[in-house]
Amino acid sequence: MMKRSPNSQPAGDDSVRVSAYERRYRNDARDLLYANYHSHSHLDWHDTDHWLDRQAAPILLAWSGNRIVGLIATSEPLNATCWIRLAAVTDDIPAQPVITALWQHLVPILLAEGIETVAVLVLRDWIIRYLQELGFYHAEEIVTLRRGFKPPGAVDKDDLYLRLIHPTDIPRIAEIDQAAFEPPWQLSLIELRRAERIASLSTVALRNGQILGYQLTTLSLESAHLARLAIDPKAQGQGIGGVLLADLIERLARRGIRSMTVNTQESNTRSQRLYERFGFRRNGYDLPVWMIHLHSKAPGTAGA
Ligand SMILES: CC(C)(COP(=O)(O)OP(=O)(O)OC[C@H]1O[C@@H](n2cnc3c(N)ncnc32)[C@H](O)[C@@H]1OP(=O)(O)O)[C@@H](O)C(=O)NCCC(=O)NCCS
Repeated sequence: MMKRSPNSQPAGDDSVRVSAYERRYRNDARDLLYANYHSHSHLDWHDTDHWLDRQAAPILLAWSGNRIVGLIATSEPLNATCWIRLAAVTDDIPAQPVITALWQHLVPILLAEGIETVAVLVLRDWIIRYLQELGFYHAEEIVTLRRGFKPPGAVDKDDLYLRLIHPTDIPRIAEIDQAAFEPPWQLSLIELRRAERIASLSTVALRNGQILGYQLTTLSLESAHLARLAIDPKAQGQGIGGVLLADLIERLARRGIRSMTVNTQESNTRSQRLYERFGFRRNGYDLPVWMIHLHSKAPGTAGA
C-alpha cells in the first residue's frame, strides 16, 4: 500500500498530488474502487481489471504523501464527448480536495483530445454534490422499462430478413449506431466489438442484403436486458424496430425467458412509445446523467 508517486505534480491543494496511472498500482486502484463508499464505476461492457489493464483512455491517481487516495478514469473520446468511467476517493479523508485535484489535471488532457462534453451516469448519490461543485449540470434521466411475459402480437416482417449478428457486421452496426444516437450515447467500434462478444442474443434486420438495424441483448438466469436497439435513421418509422423487438421476444420465449428490461433516455419518447407498444412499462428505476461542457480558457473551472 505504501507507494511512491512518480512524476507527480501538486494540484490546487498542495497536500494532494496527481500522477498518471501505471500498471504497478493496479491492486491499490482496485482496493480504492472496491473498498470505499466514495466509488463510481460505470464500465458497461468492461470489468475493472480489463479497464485498468488496457489504459486506452486517461486514468489519473491522486496521492496524499505516498498513499493513493483517489482515482479518475474516462472513456475514449467519441465525437468530442467522453464518460467518467471510474472515480474513487478513500472514505477517511475529505473528498473535495482530491476530486478537485484530479479534475484540474484531467481537464487539460481532455481538451487536448478534443473533448467538449463530459458525462457521468450517477449510480450513487455521493457524487452529485462534487459534480455540482465542478460545474456539471443535470442533463437527463435514464429510465428503465420492464416487460412481463406476454406474446408480442403479430408483426409484419414484409421484405425484412432477420438473423444473428456476425462479427463481420460490426463496422456497419457502428455506422448505424453513430448515425442513430447523438453524442454521448453513441458506441465506438471497439465498444461494439466487445458488446457483441458479451451479449447473449444479438440480431440484425436486413433488406436487400443491407443491414438496417440491430439489437444486443444480455441474459441472466430468467431475465433478459435489451442493451441496445438502433435503426438506420434513413429506415426509421418503417416498423423495423418493432420487427426486431417482436423477433427478440419470440426467441426469448423459446428459451423460457419471461421477463425483460430496457433502458432509454427519458427524453427519447419515440423509443418509449415503441417499448410501450410491446408491453414495457416504466418501473421507477431511473438514473440521472450529469454533464459539463468544457471550454478551453480556464481548465478546472469549466461550466455548463
Ligand atoms: C427508437 C427506434 C429504435 C425505433 O425504431 P423504428 O424502426 O423507427 O420503430 P418503428 O418503425 O417500429 O416504430 C416507430 C414509429 O414508426 C411507426 N411505424 C411503424 N411501422 C410503420 C410503417 N410501416 N410506416 C410508417 N411508420 C411506421 C410506428 O407506429 C411508430 O410510430 P410512433 O413513433 O408514433 O409510435 C429508432 O427510432 C432508433 O434507432 N432511434 C435512435 C436510437 C434509439 O433511440 N434506440 C432506442 C433507445 S436505447
